[in-house]
Amino acid sequence: MPLNCNSEFSPTNTPLLDTLWDCANKPHTAFYTPGHKLGQGISPKLTAYFGKDVFRADLTELTALDNLFAPTGVIHAAQSLAAQAFGASHTWFLVNGSTCGVEAAILATCGSGDKIILPRNVHTSAISGLILSGAIPIFVNPEYDPVLDIAHSITPQGVAAALEMHPDAKAVMMVYPTYYGVCGDVDAIANIAHQYNIPLLVDEAHGAHFAFHQQLPTTALAAGADLTIQSIHKVLGAMTQASMLHIQGEIIDQDRVHKALQLLQSSSPSYLLLASLDAARQQMAVCGEELMSRTLQLAEQARSHISQIPGLSVLEVPKLSSPGFVTLDQTRLTVRVSELGLTGFAAEEILDEHLGITCELASLHNLTFIISLGNTQEDINYLVQGFVILAQEYRQPLNHTHVKLSQSAWHDFTHISNSMLMLPREAFFAHTEALPMESKTLSNRICAEIVCPYPPGIPIIMPGEAISMEALAYLQQIKRMGGFISGCADTSLRTIKVVKI
Ligand SMILES: Cc1ncc(COP(=O)(O)O)c(C=O)c1O
Repeated sequence: MPLNCNSEFSPTNTPLLDTLWDCANKPHTAFYTPGHKLGQGISPKLTAYFGKDVFRADLTELTALDNLFAPTGVIHAAQSLAAQAFGASHTWFLVNGSTCGVEAAILATCGSGDKIILPRNVHTSAISGLILSGAIPIFVNPEYDPVLDIAHSITPQGVAAALEMHPDAKAVMMVYPTYYGVCGDVDAIANIAHQYNIPLLVDEAHGAHFAFHQQLPTTALAAGADLTIQSIHKVLGAMTQASMLHIQGEIIDQDRVHKALQLLQSSSPSYLLLASLDAARQQMAVCGEELMSRTLQLAEQARSHISQIPGLSVLEVPKLSSPGFVTLDQTRLTVRVSELGLTGFAAEEILDEHLGITCELASLHNLTFIISLGNTQEDINYLVQGFVILAQEYRQPLNHTHVKLSQSAWHDFTHISNSMLMLPREAFFAHTEALPMESKTLSNRICAEIVCPYPPGIPIIMPGEAISMEALAYLQQIKRMGGFISGCADTSLRTIKVVKI
């Protein structure tokens, strides 16, 4: 379709970015926040590193710059252009990541005591949404592939069964795509939710690029979702934290989303982040298809070369239909390294420390790489060469201790629901005590905090859940293998906070 470049709402325009730049360059004397006053008072070390321009543009809500929480000017125009580009009826810019979008989606659809159906392997932000709202989670276990040791999506059958048991649920939430790029059946799940007149909320944090190329999976909105949250910063050209929340249709109350976002975001949103969303949207509206074609080509090169290296394989769409795995985002590359006698954690360390290659996510068997519009041919050559060296020089005998571990009963735990003995909100606000982690007395005590390896940010135990010995053993293993645990007071995992009895 030819781009209409004349109207105010031309996709080639960047109304917010341009106005910010104009304000930054307009001669004036500043007596407003931020305190550094157009960079004049910023630490000289910061300007030495990053230059001066970026601080000149670090402005606040000047009249010309509109207001994120009551937009009528340039933010309104930039958000409208984003809605057009991403196929939404309304779009909000987020300065606190998809984290605040996921929380707002739950707050906008569920109040205290309302039920929400969601996968057990949700991102920790959904658990925060449950704590904030007081909603009752009805967890559906996602499909789990024991060979790959990867949890996929929830299925339409799982959602239908949950809704049959809980027809009073107020919303369904799903993750699409997963961290591994695996896409479930949004279309069918949206249809089921709509039969109950409730919305489908999609955590599409990793799928912001889907709208821009036919070879990428369908967007959640195109497949019928009512609300979707995208981390534009994760896969497109926006700055870290810059994300969007989109809605379509009539089921979602726009005003409630708006109010929820106002509860969750700063009253001094960063215009650098907001302008980066405007610029990233324009870049994709104008050259998205070309950029995604190139990204897909680079990803395909990496997949085909790495899969030919003996001892390595890459995650592909299964030949036989697999529940919870309808399609794959081909720009997300997951490489199985365990046949080299290495865990993903060990391979991550070798690649990072010895070969200068840093992945997004390591797990027991796999390494996951995000290939995006920012990658170059040189990056891909480097990645392939790194794997050649890893396979030739770092291979271990298959009875290596790391692999023995992988052959034990130990596996990805994120698809397993612990029993929920208290609502997440109640457990979060309860009186708590810290107990030693190894203590047998922890068995069946109620957890009072989120205990979550990061990445991928999927809680292993959450507030309100019974603490199982299996979950504890899993967390200890992650820790031993160099994983990072977040969310809990004692990230060394010597103690864990439980509800006091
Ligand atoms: C599936 C999923 N949802 C939500 C988030 C939160 O996104 P953000 O980092 O933009 O706050 C993440 C972050 O890793 C994620 O993986």
